[in-house]
Amino acid sequence: MGWYQYVMAAAYDPFMRHLEKDLLHYRKKLLGRTRGQVLEVGAGTGVNFDLYPEQARVTAIEPSRAMFLKAQKRLAHPNIRLYNLGLEDDGLEALRPPRGFDFVVSMLVLCSVRDYPEAIERYYKLMSDTGKLLVLEHIHATGTAYGKFQEWVNPVWRPLADGCHLTRRQDLDLKKFFRPIEEGYFRLGADWYWAVMEKNPGL
Ligand SMILES: C[S@@+](CC[C@H](N)C(=O)[O-])C[C@H]1O[C@@H](n2cnc3c(N)ncnc32)[C@H](O)[C@@H]1O
Repeated sequence: MGWYQYVMAAAYDPFMRHLEKDLLHYRKKLLGRTRGQVLEVGAGTGVNFDLYPEQARVTAIEPSRAMFLKAQKRLAHPNIRLYNLGLEDDGLEALRPPRGFDFVVSMLVLCSVRDYPEAIERYYKLMSDTGKLLVLEHIHATGTAYGKFQEWVNPVWRPLADGCHLTRRQDLDLKKFFRPIEEGYFRLGADWYWAVMEKNPGL
């Protein structure tokens, strides 16, 4: 399905343009606080790269070759290293700093990772004990008419949108492993969740 990945990568930025005007506020608010060793998971076309402060040393991973090639073109910042890897790839362990990452960035990614519970556990293992998880994800509008529509359309949407699920509750599932220090919900087409989270000290 190589050609499909290239179509997705070409269509992604134009498709997202109208949402990005509003998402930019949240991206800036979250990424502006990064410093030290940062892992960006699923960098896509590299929309976040310009938003990192100088103190951040970013390891960005992106498994789709087509997205990776697009993101490479946005690599103006010498403090960002980009790898054609996914969360589950063995090569990622070698990039983990000895004490773990100070920040893990998860933006619009958990909707499309294949092994979703495993991905959340990986975030936990990749982060340092004092690390922070920065989250910006669209979530299922549970218990609403719109949520019912999402459930209905999800089987058609998922294959068309590169595995993106409309019916996940990343907020609830992340809270099993992480404790929000700051969080918020907003409506932008779908329902969205943003958060700064730390490891749940009870685990
Ligand atoms: C919707 S795009 C979001 C891109 C970017 N994070 C953003 O904020 O616009 C989701 C990205 O997650 C990537 N992805 C999917 N599964 C992944 C995995 N297992 N590990 C890392 N990235 C993954 C996809 O290849 C895709 O580029």
